[in-house]
Amino acid sequence: MKNILVVGSINMDMVMNTPYIPKLGETINGLGFMTVCGGKGANQACAIARLGLDVSMIGCVGDDVYASTLKDNLTESGVEISGIHTVEGSSGVAQITVCDGNNFIILEKGANGLLSPEILDKEEEKFRNADIVILQFEIPEETNIYAAKLAKKHNAKVLLNPAPMQKIPQELLKYVDIFVPNRHEAAELLGYELECEADYIKAICEIKAMGIGQVVITLGSKGSVFNKGDEIYLQPPVKTNVVDTTAAGDSFIGGFSSKYTEGCELFDCITNATKISTIVIGKKGASTSIPSKEEVEGTQFDIPEMVKLK
Ligand code: RIB
Repeated sequence: MKNILVVGSINMDMVMNTPYIPKLGETINGLGFMTVCGGKGANQACAIARLGLDVSMIGCVGDDVYASTLKDNLTESGVEISGIHTVEGSSGVAQITVCDGNNFIILEKGANGLLSPEILDKEEEKFRNADIVILQFEIPEETNIYAAKLAKKHNAKVLLNPAPMQKIPQELLKYVDIFVPNRHEAAELLGYELECEADYIKAICEIKAMGIGQVVITLGSKGSVFNKGDEIYLQPPVKTNVVDTTAAGDSFIGGFSSKYTEGCELFDCITNATKISTIVIGKKGASTSIPSKEEVEGTQFDIPEMVKLK
């Protein structure tokens, strides 16, 4: 069976729903609070595992009260966690405010900031067994670069989800086979906003010209855009009730990479990613909203036809 390795973050999400975004200095009443297991790396690993694929994760938790809950959540989802290390200090924490389905997040990296190249060396066997290695930006940059090098050493593909947005190091990009930014992260790389179809086409062509074969840009409420060889397609979104967009991007990556690793046709990979993220935005929280394979199979989706842009 194909094996996926996620190297990334594990967070405890502190989620507060609010009626509106408070001004600086203002105190308002919330509309409900919950703690939910999250972290971009962990969410992506959970999404893949719940779809029934073999996935291992390398990451760090702290020596605090959240660590066991975070690890149990991964294990119960089916993620292999022997690569999760316990380090001194707090686990990663994300303070998430959800308002009208949208969110903003304040992240305290905690243990994620201590995921080092030395830890990856201890886990090199996992790279040897991996077909694809998935990376995001909630761990140190040097660790991501080192992970990408180890992936290449062992002939695994590298999927980079450059989230949350930050300057993308060229040193890392040269190892990337599959690049899945959102429109803002793509804009950060390219230096212009992606506002219309002409921008999407230009962006994908320019990223491909950097040597990355497969580009998928998520567009939030506008769907996603991607290349299939030299052709470019838009997948419009499924019409649905948006409850909370947290982990929409992570579950898109999970849905995409699980089909991609199985060798499925690219359109199937995008369709699957669209289905999983559609379910996720209809529910509250990060890992709490990520569906099982059975839930996906039992859900009816009215997926709009893809549109060929180029
Ligand atoms: O992508 C969603 C995730 O971002 C949340 O679970 C939170 O932990 C932050 O890392």
